[in-house]
Amino acid sequence: MGKGIEISKPSGKLGVLLVGLGAVSTTLIAGVEAVKLGIAKPIGSLTQMGTIRLGKRTEKRIPLIKEFVPLADLQDLVFGAWDIFPDDAFQAASKAAVLDPSLLKSLETPLRNIKPMKGAFEQKWVKRLTGTHVKVGRNKKHLADQIVTDIKEFKDKTGAARLVMIWCASTEAHTTIKPEHQNLAGFEKALEDNSPEISPSMIYAYAALTAGVPFANGAPNLSVDIPALVEMAKRNNVPIAGKDLKTGQTLMKTILAPGFKARMIGVRGWYSTNILGNRDGEVLDDPESFKTKEESKLGVLQYILQPELYPDLYGNVRHQVRIDYYPPRGDNKEGWDSIDIFGWLGYPMQIKINFLCRDSILAAPVVLDVALFMDLAQRSGMKGIQEWLSFYFKSPMTAPGLYPEHDLFIQLMKLKNTLRHLRGEELITHLGLEYYD
Ligand SMILES: NC(=O)c1ccc[n+]([C@@H]2O[C@H](COP(=O)([O-])OP(=O)(O)OC[C@H]3O[C@@H](n4cnc5c(N)ncnc54)[C@H](O)[C@@H]3O)[C@@H](O)[C@H]2O)c1
Repeated sequence: MGKGIEISKPSGKLGVLLVGLGAVSTTLIAGVEAVKLGIAKPIGSLTQMGTIRLGKRTEKRIPLIKEFVPLADLQDLVFGAWDIFPDDAFQAASKAAVLDPSLLKSLETPLRNIKPMKGAFEQKWVKRLTGTHVKVGRNKKHLADQIVTDIKEFKDKTGAARLVMIWCASTEAHTTIKPEHQNLAGFEKALEDNSPEISPSMIYAYAALTAGVPFANGAPNLSVDIPALVEMAKRNNVPIAGKDLKTGQTLMKTILAPGFKARMIGVRGWYSTNILGNRDGEVLDDPESFKTKEESKLGVLQYILQPELYPDLYGNVRHQVRIDYYPPRGDNKEGWDSIDIFGWLGYPMQIKINFLCRDSILAAPVVLDVALFMDLAQRSGMKGIQEWLSFYFKSPMTAPGLYPEHDLFIQLMKLKNTLRHLRGEELITHLGLEYYD
């Protein structure tokens, strides 16, 4: 066992600042409050329930992750949020209708206390919403300054010792990296000039980095994933991560596709459709927001299957993704996957998956883990892109020129080896020959 990295203690409260107080955010907050009260378990959260093997299998050292690395305790979490509607967390959670009204009722007091700060918003980026609780500013730099002030006021009010910010707001319209995003000086000028190329999610990310607050992006829009903000994160020694939480259908894809590839089973087609009835579904009904999501969902298979290395198996995969807004289904999304595979001598087979999932139930523990690990990263002196958190994202951010790793099991190994590295433990290669010497 080596020395490891010096990690400062998670003393005091950790403020979790959520952009967007919708289905995911309120399910997270209510869940954490329920766990704090001892009336529910943090199922789905690796930081709370996961273990990590250390050393040789014969040593039988398998602590809980939260006992192995110094993470903030759930009792020390305090939440703040921004939204473009004024509903407090209780009202927003009730409207999202993810959790039972009786559970919400028992958490009413802490939820009522979370009232969103006014959002930085521009409707061209989320066409389906017309915000009523929005900031007004001379230009986009002025909006960023207001968010920095919100952050300071939140810290003073709650006494939080440290903060993290996570974008859990609606998916913004599709865009690509423009000259305004290329470097920090140009980005700051574009903020002052009120450039139409700067989206609200970029303004929040800029404000977080200005205040030295780690920023993670739970949605597929670019946000912090632009060269200017990557540069700023490194300069200000702040960790960043994204994009797009890996939850329902894509989680399944990144579990199954590595399995097919491991056994050299061919894939001819993968048709995925989602029926979704929550506000996220309504926003994604707009073709421009859907395009951002589609791009994020489509990338996964290409990288896992590596058609350039396996042209006979994956050189001709038809991958199609649909999202249909269907209000009766609410947050209980239904995902259909129809997968055309082929085996020995090219004989075709089919797999059908009908995932009756609950979007925000899957997303909430992911946001919790990302918040706790981003705080750990900052206390460990890690800055810039945190690729070891790829495990949680559909479109993981990577260093320029590096392709993202999508295979869930490689991502998990990367995450756990990073934790071992931080604590000076031997990295696990799974070679295991020594057991037979
Ligand atoms: N639930 C999942 O499984 C999952 C998975 C991956 C990504 N996501 C993404 O997470 C995000 C949140 O999902 P959700 O189901 O909670 O959606 P939601 O529509 O319930 O909540 C989003 C909230 O963001 C607010 N908002 C929009 N623009 C804002 C702005 N500029 N500033 C502040 N608030 C703003 C909206 O008013 C809304 O209350 C979406 O982008 C979604 O695509 C969700």
